[in-house]
Amino acid sequence: MDYTNNIYFLNDGDLVILGENSITFYDKDLNKIEKNVEVITWNSNAADKGSFDTFMLKEINEQPNSIRETIGTRIVPNQKCDFSDIHISKEYLSDITRIYIVACGTAMYAGIAVKPIFERLTGIPTEVDVASEFRYREPLIDSRTLIICISQSGETADTIAALKNAKANGSKTIAVTNVIGSSITREADFTLLTHAGPEIAVASTKAYTSQVTLLALLAIHFAEVLELPKGDMINNLKDEILELPSKVSIVLDNTDVIRDFAKKIYKESDVFFVGRGIDYAVAMEASLKLKEVSYIHSESYQSGELKHGPIALIENGFTVVGIMTDRRLVDKSISNLQEVISRGAKTLIITNQDIDKNLFPTVFSVPKVHPLLSAVLSVIPLQLLAYYVAVEKGLDVDKPRNLAKSVTVE
Ligand code: M6R
Repeated sequence: MDYTNNIYFLNDGDLVILGENSITFYDKDLNKIEKNVEVITWNSNAADKGSFDTFMLKEINEQPNSIRETIGTRIVPNQKCDFSDIHISKEYLSDITRIYIVACGTAMYAGIAVKPIFERLTGIPTEVDVASEFRYREPLIDSRTLIICISQSGETADTIAALKNAKANGSKTIAVTNVIGSSITREADFTLLTHAGPEIAVASTKAYTSQVTLLALLAIHFAEVLELPKGDMINNLKDEILELPSKVSIVLDNTDVIRDFAKKIYKESDVFFVGRGIDYAVAMEASLKLKEVSYIHSESYQSGELKHGPIALIENGFTVVGIMTDRRLVDKSISNLQEVISRGAKTLIITNQDIDKNLFPTVFSVPKVHPLLSAVLSVIPLQLLAYYVAVEKGLDVDKPRNLAKSVTVE
């Protein structure tokens, strides 16, 4: 960004001859082609660490703003959400039989976190699939299936291949990406930009919360297009989405509990993350984050599954992180977590419920929020947990070993 913000985007197979004062483009058949220069509006400050030691910490702290930018002008007072950048009709949505959300890694976990929002608001069965599986497993898709591919970079090979497969089967495709002009935007029928700003750290943080926010808005848009009677739910959700940036700031304001817990566990070799419903979606993302940057083995389980096997591993000192934000399920989660405590586990609880603090030695509270949006808040302390553990271990948090920011090969 310090040198130029002028970009020419190349398609697969394009060739370029750069001369001292000239630039000539050819397509894959060697026909000379003209290309327009595009101007990137991110400034170079967005791509440096500023006052932070690492990009990961900077990006975690940018989330109030990145979520605000993602919401942008989509929520219009007393009107339907503005999604004039895509054209999805009532007839089309009424006719489709299924939505598939396809992505890799953190982007896929964002998909799992929003699946309930799509199903509750639209009544359309919504599946989430890993792109590397979806592309080869010959899924049952056709013109009555909508495919939403999520990719921060827009360059992930498996996600792009899955999208191409879907198109070849007649499905409509929407790409959700953070990068203007990325490869996926040139393949999809429609593109939605998250506007989170450049994400440099290999571990994805602000892209996840922007993806969840944008997809929640898209689900609201679908419900509005379908004109389904949802009572006050849609307006409540919009109000709650507008409050997310300030609630994220509250979470970021006092994170000492998380830093102290990181100091307690950084020498451990295994950690479990457990939750139910959307809390389980967050557990999966938290587990990925911890293993990526701290190299600690971690697993995520639905709290109710503990008894079906994993609890056999719990012994004195084993670390279990429990996420409990769903009021309907909190009592069940408490009882699951009490079972691990009675077997000697060290626990960290992330909750927005008024649980008896005497039950658990370490509780981190996040603000109350609509249950369908809880992932945006409860993931943040767990991004920080991964970060602080990696820092305690003296690791390079921005560039973990063996990982690339964008996985452009299989
Ligand atoms: O650029 P993408 O969103 O397509 O990337 C997908 C995954 O490679 C990515 O989320 C990866 O899992 C991150 N390192 C997670 O922090």
